[in-house]
Amino acid sequence: MPASHRKTPESLRSTRWFGPDDLRSFGHRSRMMQLGYSESDFMGKPMIGILNTWSELNSCHAHFRERAKDVKRGVLQAGGFPVELPSLSVDESFTKPTSMLYRNMLAMETEEMIRSHPLDGVVLMGGCDKTTPGLVMGAITAGVPMIYLPAGPMLRGNYAGQKLGSGSDAWKYWDERRAGNISDAEWQGVQGGIARSAGVCMTMGTASTMTAIADAMGLTLPGASSVPAVDSGHQRMAADCGRRIVDMVWEDLTPDLIVTEASVRNAAIVAMATGCSTNAVVHLIAMARRAGVDLSLDDLDALGRVTPLIANVRPSGKDYLMEDFYYAGGLRALMAQIKDRLALDALTVTGKTMGENLIGAQVYNDDVIRPLSNPVYAEGSLAVLRGNLCPDGAVIKPAACDAKYHVHQGPALVFDSYPEMKAAIDDETLDVTPDHVLVLRNAGPLGGPGFPEWGMLPIPKALIKQGHRDMLRISDARMSGTSYGACVLHVAPESYVGGPLALLKTGDIIRLDLPNRRLDMLVDEAELEVRRAAWQAPDPRFERGWGWMFSKHVTQADKGCDFDFLERSFGAPAGEPEI
Ligand code: FES
Ligand code: MG
Repeated sequence: MPASHRKTPESLRSTRWFGPDDLRSFGHRSRMMQLGYSESDFMGKPMIGILNTWSELNSCHAHFRERAKDVKRGVLQAGGFPVELPSLSVDESFTKPTSMLYRNMLAMETEEMIRSHPLDGVVLMGGCDKTTPGLVMGAITAGVPMIYLPAGPMLRGNYAGQKLGSGSDAWKYWDERRAGNISDAEWQGVQGGIARSAGVCMTMGTASTMTAIADAMGLTLPGASSVPAVDSGHQRMAADCGRRIVDMVWEDLTPDLIVTEASVRNAAIVAMATGCSTNAVVHLIAMARRAGVDLSLDDLDALGRVTPLIANVRPSGKDYLMEDFYYAGGLRALMAQIKDRLALDALTVTGKTMGENLIGAQVYNDDVIRPLSNPVYAEGSLAVLRGNLCPDGAVIKPAACDAKYHVHQGPALVFDSYPEMKAAIDDETLDVTPDHVLVLRNAGPLGGPGFPEWGMLPIPKALIKQGHRDMLRISDARMSGTSYGACVLHVAPESYVGGPLALLKTGDIIRLDLPNRRLDMLVDEAELEVRRAAWQAPDPRFERGWGWMFSKHVTQADKGCDFDFLERSFGAPAGEPEI
């Protein structure tokens, strides 16, 4: 089953750097001695890279400096040699214009750092939204044995005895503040209580969705994604990662054996059952394509239609947060509930199958992790729409929006930029009704730039004051995984490249028909043709640097927004470096 063949000290990748009796290897060995190591410390031992996305501007990874020590302890105990390598820390809060502009930078860095260094295996330390796909995409392509160490969720938020959920409650209390219902002191209290410890957002936002996906794909130790960041179990899990990766090197258990059509499908099903962030769509497609698995939007829609949402965790679920999810049994327990739908023979980093990893998993609170007979929603984590507004697709989270919008027709109110939208939305004289459809364009992968999380457009102040909290919104942007509402996202192709969204005008009637997965503007084709002929491409966003390179090579949302030249199909593999 697991190991195609066992490695020997002589066949280790690092031995190419350190083994030969030649001038270059002399140089490598002497530099290790410069670091204070004797030959017996590292020669013939698996060299394990610990790719650590710690930074002082990544609050979600604040524990990673310490946690890397636990990984090292494990590596040393198992007879490996650990080396910690700092990696780009793409944090969600501070990185502007959006962290998504840098996911591929982390993926490139990860791939090249592994390829260019004497590493036999890697432990990837990530968790904050883009770090999971960035690290995993790069490591899949690099191809050495790898294990993913998820940062784990932060503790439940708390203010005045009330539970607070990352993101979701920020939006909720902000709306109340705009409506004039909350005092300054209360707002300050929420600010201090909503993020109480190291760890990722503790709603089922993008971070927890993506770490669950890595777990379900077999890339973490079983259930590792659910362990809270500051639980002592997280330290033990980190040491276990260190011990296990050394064995994975000897077993030559490479990612191509783990990330397969079966494990990608498992991950997609689990994502749906958790009520996944819409961002999961983009990242999962990109990760799958790195492994040569062609996962499409339609595959995801098909799974969304038949997979019940059983994790009762905000924002799709009701009261609970990730800490509750862990106490209820965590991801292993959730996967055990739906095991009949999963490919249980998929291989994992443990060297065992997913089915073996799930043995003994139990649900301890069936209101948090529901049985299939009592799901939070029978279906509807995610739906993919098509129509004359989005020929290459758009996504919506039916479970997170008011059901009255599932079939809706109304006039468009179109904004060309975020600042334009923001100024209008707070204008209490804005001519808008609850039937209007708010539209934001030029917010996609190229137009944003970088595909920002602007898709949960704020409800106009005039409507907020009338008590409205939801309305139909459409954009070519993404939205935060902790957001909610009737938001159609990822419209492809995006308006910036001349997608049909670019042709829409304020007052055009838009029709959403969710049961039939349609999104259309009711404008006749002759009129659209006139508008198309008059459309002019906007000026380029960047004329140099990373942004320029990003603009040249990023793919559209339905393809995962990887760079075209990083995709597996682009050319021959880079291969091993000359030494
Ligand atoms: Fe890091 Fe949400 S900000 S996971
Ligand atoms: Mg987020």
